[in-house]
Amino acid sequence: KKVVLAYSGGLDTSVILKWIKQTYGCEVIAFTADIGQGDDFAAIEAKALATGASKVYVKDLKEEFLTKYAFPTLRAGAVYERKYLLGTSFARPLIAAHQVEVAKLEGADAVAHGCTGKGNDQVRFELTYKALAPELKVIAPWRQWDLGGREDLLEYANAHGIPVSQSKQNIYSRDQNLWHLSHEGGELEDPWQEPNEAMFQLTVSPEAAPDTPQELVIGFEEGYPVSIDGQAMGPVTLVTTLNEIGGQHGIGRIDLVENRLVGMKSRGVYEQPGATILATAHKELESLVLDRETLHYKDLVAQKYAELVYYGLWFTPLREALDAFVDVTQKPVTGEVRLKLYKGNCIVTGRKSPYSLYHEAFATFSSDPIYDHADAQGFINLFGLPLKVAALLKQQGTTA
Ligand code: ARG
Ligand code: SIN
Repeated sequence: KKVVLAYSGGLDTSVILKWIKQTYGCEVIAFTADIGQGDDFAAIEAKALATGASKVYVKDLKEEFLTKYAFPTLRAGAVYERKYLLGTSFARPLIAAHQVEVAKLEGADAVAHGCTGKGNDQVRFELTYKALAPELKVIAPWRQWDLGGREDLLEYANAHGIPVSQSKQNIYSRDQNLWHLSHEGGELEDPWQEPNEAMFQLTVSPEAAPDTPQELVIGFEEGYPVSIDGQAMGPVTLVTTLNEIGGQHGIGRIDLVENRLVGMKSRGVYEQPGATILATAHKELESLVLDRETLHYKDLVAQKYAELVYYGLWFTPLREALDAFVDVTQKPVTGEVRLKLYKGNCIVTGRKSPYSLYHEAFATFSSDPIYDHADAQGFINLFGLPLKVAALLKQQGTTA
């Protein structure tokens, strides 16, 4: 028997590694994805081996994470419950998909993850396993063992010689990658309680941000971000750079009481500086190049897309179909957006595109060659006909 475990190097998945070996008496292969969480991967590999893994895979998935998951979600305009840019949600199918690949390569018969039994992440991992490798067994220790919480884990770790880093005395449940850093738990469990300033790691507070604004120009090609201030950049460099600049200006902190897929509300605080800049700029460019009906309809699609990503339904026909729609809408989303970053605000100051549908000559209030004021009169008469008929009937007292 062989199990591939999604391993982060933290306390939970280290205890899980040991527990699986003990409980099933099987070989455990650790799989770790680098998606920009900034960990020491050599140390993680060493820890996995020291904890009993027979083999460790560390895959650099940073670029794939952005180009295949984050950017499509950005192009779709998907935002969960008005604020959350889904950084954790689409990371899970990516990690699970590569975990499955390792499982197939190694001829493993099971996959395991360290998600709790009350969260969204367990669903996202397991829906991906089901979609890509329905034959694999799933081990979810948090739903199976009798360890209750952190104290039990620490005790288990001590009893089994698993090193626990005291520096990471985490009161929060966190998840970091190139798109965001999430915080849940601790004092955040009281939705009235303001987050402790020391909790934040990617952004300064707006109060502590510089008094001088910073201007920034973001370039897009077919909805994909490709440059900063006219300088072409690969996805990883581009997003890393925007996280740094945005973080310095306190951009992208959000505080959300969200509906989890498993039913309860939970409060989360997210730092998403680079993603916020990109989402703001992308929307702005769309406003310039998309016709009214496409733009309005796309907002409906964005809502559905966000739900689907949040619910872990990445590997589904619906996601592919929505992506096909989004692809068509993104053909003209090429151009540049100028922004000003200032004390937590991301302010749009300009936009341009070769496919702009805005023409000064047509928008102006003075006369132009394609717009005849007289047309407006007839248009209003017909557009307003139902209102007029209803009002006349009301005057005659013949309405219900
Ligand atoms: N609530 C967010 C989501 O469902 C973030 C979850 C963070 N996950 C974690 N394992 N800390 O996408
Ligand atoms: C977890 O429960 O593992 C983290 C939170 C979530 O999945 O929503």
